[in-house]
Amino acid sequence: GKVLVLNGPNLNRLGKREPEIYGKETLADIVKRLESIAKDDNISLDSKQSNHEGVLIDWIHDAEGTYDGIIFNPGAYTHTSIALRDAISSISIPVIEVHLSNVHKRETFRHQSMLAPVCAGQIVGLGSKGYELALQYFINHIIRKSG
Ligand code: DQA
Repeated sequence: GKVLVLNGPNLNRLGKREPEIYGKETLADIVKRLESIAKDDNISLDSKQSNHEGVLIDWIHDAEGTYDGIIFNPGAYTHTSIALRDAISSISIPVIEVHLSNVHKRETFRHQSMLAPVCAGQIVGLGSKGYELALQYFINHIIRKSG
């Protein structure tokens, strides 16, 4: 089994970026923990981050055939990008949308996701734990298919 962890714009700034909202952990810290979970379960995990919409689109296209699922924090593109939505629609592997913060208790422009309707599911507001829960879901339900 193979899972892609994909992070969009400004998530390379985690740890420094508004820590009261996004926490003090860096993206590397989060990925390290995900890698250790994956390793224990014999799953391989790749992590990619880009600030560029088109790059994210290319990686989504390329993921099909290589990965069993994508854990995706699209950052602010969540709320704007029909192109990313169409990219997710164009592939057959499941995508789980993850947000560190609870977007529903923030500005109204963060309440809508362009991507959620074409994702397998969405996890919001649980901090970095959300990525772990998404990984567990892929391992247990998509890769191992145990219920
Ligand atoms: C975010 C929420 C988005 O609204 C914001 O633009 C981000 C991070 C989150 O993880 O909480 O960049 O996706």
